[in-house]
Amino acid sequence: MAASLNKVGVVGLGTMGAGIAEVLARSGLDVVGVEVGDEALKRGRGHLENSTGRAVKRGKLSAEEQQAILDRITLSTSFGALSDCDLVIEAVPEQLQLKRRVFEQLDEVCRADAVLATNTSSLSVTEIAVSTNRPEQVVGVHFFNPAPVMRLVEIIHSVLTRPEALSVVQGLVERLGKVGVTVGDRAGFIANRLLFGYLNQAAAMYDAGHASREDIDAAMKATGLPMGPLTLMDLIGLDVSLEVCEAIYRETRNRRHAPAPILRQMVTAGLLGRKTGRGFYSYDEPAATAEAEPAGAPPRVGVVGSGPLAVALISGCLRAGADVRFVAGDAEKADAVRTALEQPVEGGTELGLLADCDLIVEAVAEDTSVKRSLFAAVDDVAKPGAVLATTTTTVPVIEVAAATDRPQDVIGLNLPDPAGELVEIAATVVTAPEVVRRAAEYVAALGRRPVHCRDRAGFIVDALRVPYLNDAVRMLETGYADADSIDAAMRYGCGYPIGPVADLDRLGLGHAVEVLRALYTEYREPAYAPAPLLEELFTAGRTFR
Ligand SMILES: NC(=O)c1ccc[n+]([C@@H]2O[C@H](COP(=O)([O-])OP(=O)(O)OC[C@H]3O[C@@H](n4cnc5c(N)ncnc54)[C@H](O)[C@@H]3O)[C@@H](O)[C@H]2O)c1
Repeated sequence: MAASLNKVGVVGLGTMGAGIAEVLARSGLDVVGVEVGDEALKRGRGHLENSTGRAVKRGKLSAEEQQAILDRITLSTSFGALSDCDLVIEAVPEQLQLKRRVFEQLDEVCRADAVLATNTSSLSVTEIAVSTNRPEQVVGVHFFNPAPVMRLVEIIHSVLTRPEALSVVQGLVERLGKVGVTVGDRAGFIANRLLFGYLNQAAAMYDAGHASREDIDAAMKATGLPMGPLTLMDLIGLDVSLEVCEAIYRETRNRRHAPAPILRQMVTAGLLGRKTGRGFYSYDEPAATAEAEPAGAPPRVGVVGSGPLAVALISGCLRAGADVRFVAGDAEKADAVRTALEQPVEGGTELGLLADCDLIVEAVAEDTSVKRSLFAAVDDVAKPGAVLATTTTTVPVIEVAAATDRPQDVIGLNLPDPAGELVEIAATVVTAPEVVRRAAEYVAALGRRPVHCRDRAGFIVDALRVPYLNDAVRMLETGYADADSIDAAMRYGCGYPIGPVADLDRLGLGHAVEVLRALYTEYREPAYAPAPLLEELFTAGRTFR
C-alpha cells in the first residue's frame, strides 16, 4: 500500500468529482481528472475554473493560488492517465452497473498497491468492491455537496477492506482538514440514512394534507435547520431523493424509507425540483413576495398554568405589549410565577380572571383528565367567542375540545421552542375556520410566527423531529456508529446546528418518549415506537452523555 499520497485520481468531474478534485489540489496534491469524452472534460474544466474563480472574486484565493491549484490538476479522457496514482476516487453517476464497470477498468490500469475509493451516497461499497480483483483495497469516501465547503466525509469499510487501505483514506481526509467518520457498509451510511427518513416523512406529511409546504418548511427552519425539508428535497433533486430512499428501503425494509407516493408521482411527471424549475415549489418565476399584513392590536390573553411554558407565554405577551393575566393552581404557585417574571402581572387562582380574555391558553400538566376538567371549567367562565387553546402536543386536541360545550372554539397551540418565534396552531375536525383565522391573527399580533396543521400527534415539528431522533438512537444501539460520529455526521454533513444525540439530551428524554408514544398510539407505525435504549435511559433518569 502506498505509504504516502502524492497523486490522486478522480473519475467523473461532475458536481462532486470537480469539487473533490479542487479540494485535493488545494491541499497540494497532484490530481488526475478523468472524464468520458471531450465535451464532459470541458464541462469539468469549467466547473473547476468557475468554482476557484468565485473564491478569487470573494477574496478567499489570490489569482496566483488559483493558477497553482488548476496547474496541479491534469485532465484526461483516458483511464491510462490514472496508472501511477496512489489513490483513485470515483464520482460517476449513482448507478451500480456503471460504477462496477468503472472499477473493473480501474483495477486493470491502476498500480497493484493503489487504493480505489467510491463517492457513492447510497449504493453498497461491497458490491462495487467485488467487481475488482482487489476488494480489500476498496473504500467508500463520501463527500458532501459542495465538497469544498462541507466538512464531513464519511469513510466506509466493507467486511473485506484492509485496515491499511482504510488508513490511507482516513489520513487523506485529515490532511484535507475535513471531519472524517468511519463506519461499515450500510445503505445511506449515517447522514443520509437519518436525513432521508425525515425528508420522506415530510413529503408524506405534505401529501396527507397535514400542513402546507410553506408551513412545514417554516416550522422546521425555525428549529435552526439551514432550510425546510421540502426546499431541501427540491435542491437535492426529487429523483435523487427517490433513489436514495429506495436504496435504503431495499436494505432495511423499514417503511420509514419506503418512498412517499408523491415522490414517485412527481419524478414520473418530470418535476425533479430546482433543476427542472419545479418540484414541491415552482422556480420558473420569481416568487411573489407577499405583502406582510399589518399586525392587529394584541389580544387580551389569559394563561392557565405556572410552569416554565406558562411563564414563557406570559413574558412573551408582556414583551408584545399585550394585556395578560394568569391563573395558577394555588397561591404559592402564583407567587412563583410573579417571582419568575420579575414584574407585576395580574394573576391569581380564580378562573374568573379569564372572563374577558380573547385568547385563553392552557399550559398545565400534560395529562388528559387534568386538561379536560380544566377546559370544562374554563368553558363556564370564558366570554362567548374567546379562542380556547391547549398547549398539548401529545394529547389529541379534540379530546380536550370535547370536554367543552364549544369545541368549535378550541385549537391546539404549540411552541416548539418557548423562547422562539414559532407557534404551531392545530385545528381539529370541528374547529371553526374563523376561529383558526383569529388564532393566527392573535399569534401574529403577539409577535410570533403562526403555522397551521391538523390535530395530529406532534403537530409539525415534534412529529418530524422526534422520530428522526429515535432513528439516531436505533442507529446508536445497533452499534453501527457512536454518539460522536452520529452528531458529527448531522452537523458537518447536513448543517444541523446540533447533532441528534446532543439534541435529545437538550430536549429531554421524557419529552421524546412522550411524543413517540403519542405518535405510535396514533399511527401504529413500528418506527415510532421509542427505541429500547431511549426508554431505558429515560427510566433510569439518565441522559446520553
Ligand atoms: N450531488 C450530490 O449532492 C452528491 C453528494 C454526495 C455524493 N454524491 C455521489 O457522487 C457521485 C457523482 O454524483 P454527481 O452529483 O457529481 O453526478 P454528476 O452527474 O454531476 O457527475 C457525474 C460525472 O461523471 C461522468 N461520467 C459518467 N460516466 C463516466 C465514466 N465512465 N468515466 C468517467 N466519467 C464518467 C459524467 O460525465 C459526469 O460529469 C454519485 O455517486 C452520487 O451519488 C452526490
